[in-house]
Amino acid sequence: MIALRRARPAGARVLATLRYEFRGNHAPPTETAAGFVRRCAAWMRRALRDSSRWRCWVAVSHAPDMPGGAIVGHVWVAIIDKVPNPGEEAEHHAYITNLYVQPEFRGGIGQRLLTTAIDWCESQGIGSVILWPTDGSRSLYARNGFNVSGELWDRHLTGPQVNVRPRRRVRR
Ligand SMILES: CC(C)(COP(=O)(O)OP(=O)(O)OC[C@H]1O[C@@H](n2cnc3c(N)ncnc32)[C@H](O)[C@@H]1OP(=O)(O)O)[C@@H](O)C(=O)NCCC(=O)NCCS
Repeated sequence: MIALRRARPAGARVLATLRYEFRGNHAPPTETAAGFVRRCAAWMRRALRDSSRWRCWVAVSHAPDMPGGAIVGHVWVAIIDKVPNPGEEAEHHAYITNLYVQPEFRGGIGQRLLTTAIDWCESQGIGSVILWPTDGSRSLYARNGFNVSGELWDRHLTGPQVNVRPRRRVRR
């Protein structure tokens, strides 16, 4: 049986490992698995403690050989603030990302995670949900009402992209 629930900070290390499984297969990693998992788990722990910006739902398998349950998939939603509007207009957008299910558990769980994320966005009065699909997942998103928008413009930047952290301001 697979159950869905909100992610907890205690699960950050497992979630970071799933992130490595997903993205490490997507592009060649430039850091060790252990280093990445440590860095990503710290980020996820912080993100899960502060629910004002990020939400994450996990799929948990309760197979007989996993009595305590094992996290086998997840989806993340970032809430994007808009500047307040004087009229009737949603004041947040959302960004769905990191939808991932371990290969041996695929077949319907991705849809359940996505539905959970979209339903939550609907319940929060969010205006638009954006995402960048992988090649293989376009059909899943298309089935769920996503399409290439003529309204959203994005610009891909060409500066350094990898693990960029804002420099600390030096006080003088
Ligand atoms: C996308 C993913 C979460 C779907 O999980 P699932 O439990 O199989 O979900 P569902 O059965 O509900 O959905 C099936 C859909 O998943 C997508 N899919 C199938 N295999 C895929 C793969 N290797 N990579 C990406 N998406 C895939 C397809 O859209 C498929 O629909 P189709 O059969 O009509 O083409 C899972 O395939 C996965 O983790 N893929 C790798 C990560 C990824 O690409 N995530 C998308 C991030 S934008």
